[in-house]
Amino acid sequence: MLKTHNCGDLRLHDAGVEVNLAGWVHRRRAHGGLIFIDLRDRTGIVQLVFNPEISPAAHQVAEEARPEYVLVVKGEVVKRPPETANPNLATGEVEVAVREAQVLNPAKTPPFYINEEVDIDEFLRLRYRYLDLRRERMRDNILLRSRTVQFIRDWLRARGFVEIETPILVKETPGGAREFLVPSRLYPGQYYALPQSPQQFKQLLMVAGFERYFQIARCFRDEDQRADRQPEFTQLDLEMSFVDQEDILQLTEGLFTGLAECLTDKRILAKPFPRLTYAEAMARYGCDKPDLRFGLPLSDLSDIVLASSFAPLTSVIEQGGQAVAVRYPGGASLTRRELDDLTRFATGLGARGMLTVAFTPGGVRSPIARHLGEGQVQAIRERLEAGDGDLVLMVADQPAKVAEVMAEMRLEIGRRLDLMDRNVLAFAWVLEMPMFEWNADEGHYQAKHHHFTSPMDEDLPLLDTDPSRVRAKQYDIVCNGYEVGGGSIRIHKRELQEKVFRLLGMTDEDAGAMFGHLLEAFEYGTPPHGGIAPGIDRLVMLLAGADNIREVMAFPKTQSAQDPMTGTPAPVTKGRLKELHLRPE
Ligand code: AMO
Repeated sequence: MLKTHNCGDLRLHDAGVEVNLAGWVHRRRAHGGLIFIDLRDRTGIVQLVFNPEISPAAHQVAEEARPEYVLVVKGEVVKRPPETANPNLATGEVEVAVREAQVLNPAKTPPFYINEEVDIDEFLRLRYRYLDLRRERMRDNILLRSRTVQFIRDWLRARGFVEIETPILVKETPGGAREFLVPSRLYPGQYYALPQSPQQFKQLLMVAGFERYFQIARCFRDEDQRADRQPEFTQLDLEMSFVDQEDILQLTEGLFTGLAECLTDKRILAKPFPRLTYAEAMARYGCDKPDLRFGLPLSDLSDIVLASSFAPLTSVIEQGGQAVAVRYPGGASLTRRELDDLTRFATGLGARGMLTVAFTPGGVRSPIARHLGEGQVQAIRERLEAGDGDLVLMVADQPAKVAEVMAEMRLEIGRRLDLMDRNVLAFAWVLEMPMFEWNADEGHYQAKHHHFTSPMDEDLPLLDTDPSRVRAKQYDIVCNGYEVGGGSIRIHKRELQEKVFRLLGMTDEDAGAMFGHLLEAFEYGTPPHGGIAPGIDRLVMLLAGADNIREVMAFPKTQSAQDPMTGTPAPVTKGRLKELHLRPE
């Protein structure tokens, strides 16, 4: 080894020790004949001093060194005089007096600063990701990710879980996210798919009798990209036999609490994690992944508004619409311009308009004040618990549109009032999800979670009478406005699975062709089972307090699903295409 010690580990008690260090030149400055270099390795930074009187040769090396040069040095750890100690650096009480130095490799001037926390164009960062990963914040994120995965492995193994790998070349499963296909060379016109998750395999591992499985599983989905979505990402995939929903919730909660408390200094807002039904989440927050770091729930004002004389509103409600409002604390003092800005925010999301009611000490200010009676204004104030100085924002439209607009409006107020504390983790469960969504284009239901989720026992009769009202044994874990994980108790009986396939618009032949292996397995003694799959990228993003999952992935794709470093995706030769029985366009 070229090094006896790590740069970031040296402390006062190492004074007097001879060390060999190796790393990168982080910063270099000359001062009164001396040269100082901050040498960086994975563990941190330590100051090197090159004194021409102690070693002219080493001083000459320092003279030539530039940022990102790779150096190896030999020297003695010495205590810094108190007035030159650096309290911002873990190694700041010491420095290394260098006697020998060698450049192992020079470096070109990097395309961006590595030693400064500045905003850099993301394309450039991804083009030179190996340099971007040298930056302190990125290094910390990747190290946190490694500790997270290690913690998960240790924690689950200690609870009897077995880590098992499942295939990456799998059979296509229609009905979920769009999958990537891999053409087969050996079987012309046939394809493998990349797994969107190991769902079927983990269920088959339960049939096989492993009882407790987990995997740090790579998943692939050919979807539109967002801040919290990548075409390939990682799940903690787990499955258990002989459990009910409560067991999975408790287990996940224990794991997440351990992760947050052992690996971060973030505060979990509420323990045990609050539980909301899907219906409550939609009514109170307009979405199924609410940010619960702050309150400001939505309120349905349809009944109050219906009693008004304001036709544009009453007619919306008479046509099945809803009037939903949110409180903007202190918003009564917003300027005309700020209000216009908020209205544009709402119309930008598809609202037809936005109404405001401002409660000021001098009285109520609202464009619809004269259409609302005293009693109605008072009812609005009470329902939203609005005080003097508060503003109430209201949108009326069809329920899905209102939910979409008001969920975002609530978040916008949270952002404007700085209510989203990065140091807080507001975990919560969303339960009792609807089992099906109606697919109007294709004229049949589709699974809200996936094909294998079990209906709630009390809703089983509704499968025959009103499938739209069936709730599933499904649970999502959400945190700070993100869906961090989802899972369910599975169907483990062939007849019920076949019935659900039929409701999902599949003929028995289709179901047999696609899922025959699973149906068949169910006939060989399948234990009741269920599981969950937290997204590791999203989880680490929250633990790190980062803004998007690319910040916690070593080599992510861009927002447009490309890798500018290696130039992927890329064309292939005609010969390769021919071999795969594909014709170029
Ligand atoms: P689901 O589809 O809800 O469930 O996915 C589980 C979790 O995976 C993460 N995730 C993603 N992360 C980054 N980029 C993506 N494109 C992406 N898509 C999903 C999210 C999500 O909560 N097999 C089931 C789980 C089960 O039933 O046990 C499944 O995959 O954090």
